[in-house]
Amino acid sequence: MTNRWPWRVRWSLRAKLFIAFMLLGLLVIVATTLLGSRLLQRSAVNDARISLQQMAGSLAAALAQPEYGVAPGSKVQASAISALPATTKLRESGATILVARANGRLIYTSRGAGRVGAVALRELVDEVLLTGHVRQSVVSEPFRQATVLAGAPISNGHTLVGAVVVGRSLHAVRAAEGVPGALLWRAALLTMVLSILLSLVLASSLARPVGEMVRATEEIRRGNLSRRVPVRGHDEMAVLARSFNSMAERLEQLLHDRRALLVGVSHELRTPLTPIQGFVQALADGLVPEDERHRTYAVIQGEVARLRRLIDDLFELSKLETRQMSLRLEDVAVAELLHAARDRAVVVAHSESTRMEVACDPSAGVVRVDPDRLFQVLSNLVGNAQRFTPPGGRITLRASGTDHQVHMEVEDTGSGIAPEDLPRVFDRFYTVDRSRSRPAAGTGLGLALAREIVHVHGGEIGVRSEVGRGSVFWIDLPRQGPESTDTTG
Ligand SMILES: Nc1ncnc2c1ncn2[C@@H]1O[C@H](COP(=O)(O)OP(=O)(O)OP(=O)(O)O)[C@@H](O)[C@H]1O
Ligand SMILES: [Mg+2]
Repeated sequence: MTNRWPWRVRWSLRAKLFIAFMLLGLLVIVATTLLGSRLLQRSAVNDARISLQQMAGSLAAALAQPEYGVAPGSKVQASAISALPATTKLRESGATILVARANGRLIYTSRGAGRVGAVALRELVDEVLLTGHVRQSVVSEPFRQATVLAGAPISNGHTLVGAVVVGRSLHAVRAAEGVPGALLWRAALLTMVLSILLSLVLASSLARPVGEMVRATEEIRRGNLSRRVPVRGHDEMAVLARSFNSMAERLEQLLHDRRALLVGVSHELRTPLTPIQGFVQALADGLVPEDERHRTYAVIQGEVARLRRLIDDLFELSKLETRQMSLRLEDVAVAELLHAARDRAVVVAHSESTRMEVACDPSAGVVRVDPDRLFQVLSNLVGNAQRFTPPGGRITLRASGTDHQVHMEVEDTGSGIAPEDLPRVFDRFYTVDRSRSRPAAGTGLGLALAREIVHVHGGEIGVRSEVGRGSVFWIDLPRQGPESTDTTG
């Protein structure tokens, strides 16, 4: 598939996470810094107002003295005003000072470094003269530094003789008092660098497990089924890693089972084919005497039948395993099932050397099953018991039940099964007795089929055994049949 947008950058997960974290971090830092500088400015304005008010007050008190010529009729002493320590200090700090007489005439003006609006200063002079009280204001114009103004009346006893107004731009206030605005932005810059580094670390640590999983998937796709990913911590990534590993394990197991099945099937198919081929060749070459021919045909027929049974069993097993087998569920008396299995075994055995008993408790009652399939299971269990129980032994078919469950057992007094073989008797092609060439030997599919049939009925099958004493194969089935019967044929 061609890329429709060649210009589009293919971001890695790490890059995406990094950019997201970084942008978020920068946004928070910029917003915090802006807010901080705004608060700082507000507090600076407040401080400037208070200190300016005090300065204007003390200047007004000093100017009340007659030697400065503020009172009407006296001569204005501008140089004396200028030499006052309060005036000098204010001028040095970049403030603008205005001194006016009560009639509004300006008698002293000093322009500081800061750009303070002349109109605003003049207005405050008039206001102080009009009210005779201390006044102050803050003038802020767009795109210009705010200006703080303070004015105080100059009184001679109880008579208002003039006014003094002091103004300072906030810029000058900041410069003079060292408001840490620049420090704030410097700190912000440092935090930004830290946030970028932190984003890088976070993005890498979050993207790492995903990267590991991508590499592991790729390796598994190439055939290395033993590849697993490390599980760290307990978060969702750990859960994902654990599921990934169990999936890989299952896949490996399935592949192993498939190989084992292929080996088993080819081995089991070869066993009857070898004698068939040999006997047919002998017949074709005319090597079998006339009186032996009948027996030879019978052997070939027996092996063909064995081959047929093997193929039928395999087909049935695969249908059961893939749940493609339909069950014809009926309510059947458990006692009937046990008797049918016993009767068939007696007919097949052609001998009565093994005692066969049915002990069905009335509590076993009726169970909802596919009777043909259950009969097949019980027949295999009884057949096995007969094969492994020497003459004089006993086989007992038992059953009991509760409201929800039916329990069945096939017990024998035969050879028993060694503990190491016990877990594997339900595996396909597993036979303890390796001499399969004996006619009586089975193909090892009976118990695998039995287990699948019991499972599709929603039940369980198991075995307990003791070498030399005998075995008990048991089945538990839900009385009402399997919960869902979506085993369609
Ligand atoms: N009652 C038993 N006593 C001792 N060994 C048993 C008994 N039942 C089963 N086994 C062992 O378990 C193996 C598997 O049994 P299973 O019924 O699956 O296969 P099979 O009887 O050999 O062949 P098939 O049933 O396909 O004809 C048997 O070959 C036997 O070795
Ligand atoms: Mg069997």
